[in-house]
Amino acid sequence: MPATLTGASDWTDTLGAERRIGAVHAVSNYAAIAAYLASWTARRRGRHGVGIGLSAAGAGLLGVSGWLGGHLSYAAGVGVDTTAFSTLPSDWTDAAPETALTGKEMVAVLVGTVSVLLVNRSGTVVALSNRCTHRGAPLNDGSFHDGCIECPWHGSRFRVADGQVLRGPATRPQQVYETRVRDGRIQVRQQDEQRTLRTNPVASGND
Ligand code: FES
Repeated sequence: MPATLTGASDWTDTLGAERRIGAVHAVSNYAAIAAYLASWTARRRGRHGVGIGLSAAGAGLLGVSGWLGGHLSYAAGVGVDTTAFSTLPSDWTDAAPETALTGKEMVAVLVGTVSVLLVNRSGTVVALSNRCTHRGAPLNDGSFHDGCIECPWHGSRFRVADGQVLRGPATRPQQVYETRVRDGRIQVRQQDEQRTLRTNPVASGND
């Protein structure tokens, strides 16, 4: 029951394919519970063969729903950190012309498949993931004040300098990328050291 409640909470903030997968995940879980209850009833009535078949069906349904739940968490980052699996190349990569930030506080650009938020911080370019770690809102639709980005969906605040969370509901910091300007172009790359989940999902050795 606790997992049902937290899953439902995560699901209400999903969209598109994640929402559909979440719905199938939930229905599979309820179907598995129904199969086990039916199995229990059948066994009480002495129909053990039917009971075994129903519990086998329940186990199969749990396998399907478990796989889908794992996909939502470990591939889509639902309920975890929506940027957990979005990484930039470790080599310097072109992001935008230097003039992209002229007269603007921030602008979103696509680097490969990763949406990157470029922020003009007193003349210095800072690059962060544009996808909120809470539920994936586009931060370029949010507001920028006091050195912080405020998420447009639920109001989390992230410090631009280092991506740290200053106000929830987000609990995970934003990724901050390295930046430099070469020949009038803003370039970005993944920082050498990233958070544990991304580079070391089983915590094998690094602190
Ligand atoms: S999506 Fe919820 S705070 Fe950003």
